[in-house]
Amino acid sequence: MRKKIVAGNWKMNKTFQDAEDLVSTIADELDGVDTACEVVLCPPFPYLEMASDYADESGLQIAAQNVSEFEDGAYTGEVSASMLASIEIGYCIVGHSERRKYFGETNAQLATKVEKLLDHAIRPIFCIGELLEERNANNHFEVVKRQLDEGLFQLNKDEFKEVVIAYEPVWAIGTGVTATSAQAQEMHAFIRQQITGKYGKPVADQTTILYGGSCNAKNAAELFSNPDVDGGLIGGASLVAEDFIKIVKSF
Ligand code: PGA
Repeated sequence: MRKKIVAGNWKMNKTFQDAEDLVSTIADELDGVDTACEVVLCPPFPYLEMASDYADESGLQIAAQNVSEFEDGAYTGEVSASMLASIEIGYCIVGHSERRKYFGETNAQLATKVEKLLDHAIRPIFCIGELLEERNANNHFEVVKRQLDEGLFQLNKDEFKEVVIAYEPVWAIGTGVTATSAQAQEMHAFIRQQITGKYGKPVADQTTILYGGSCNAKNAAELFSNPDVDGGLIGGASLVAEDFIKIVKSF
């Protein structure tokens, strides 16, 4: 069976002390609990090592929110995949819509980031999803297909097997407007079909596809009950331990 994952994307939130409170509360709450999913926390860069220390004891996984497309050298402000690997980070979000929108990240750049991560044995959580205008114009499948083609489908089969996909319709992120269960399932099935076409059914069947966009403690169980929805990438609701734990227990 493919892996189910609930990942908390903290974005640019929390002081060090608040971050430590949150990670330690989550680690305590999940201590000894046999969750049906892997739990991944994605704190800001300066807190990764602190979070990793808790993770080591509690079975949580820690992810970065971004990585440089460059290997190393004179790139002020950047953080490389080898740096993340050297503190044993297991996952990294790539291509979140906020990175695409505010930092102009293109599919071609994202493809390079994915390759850098895989070179250092870090699993990318690759975000895709359409804008509201694109859905209203009925272009959402085309947009998502292009994001897959240009960002991920350059990988060979063995490389692709390490990738987690997060479908995040941009109109649902941080808006309180969640995709309906039917909209999520429809797009996840489409994504899985594209993977089948490129890499074959066994690979598609093993690929974890997360839903993201106003997923919360109230709607997670319904979203996760869809056959092609393998968990969630959670923004706002991951900042409150109680809500995040409820989501983790929604399978
Ligand atoms: P949200 O964010 O849950 O706050 O909508 C999701 C995300 O951006 O990953």
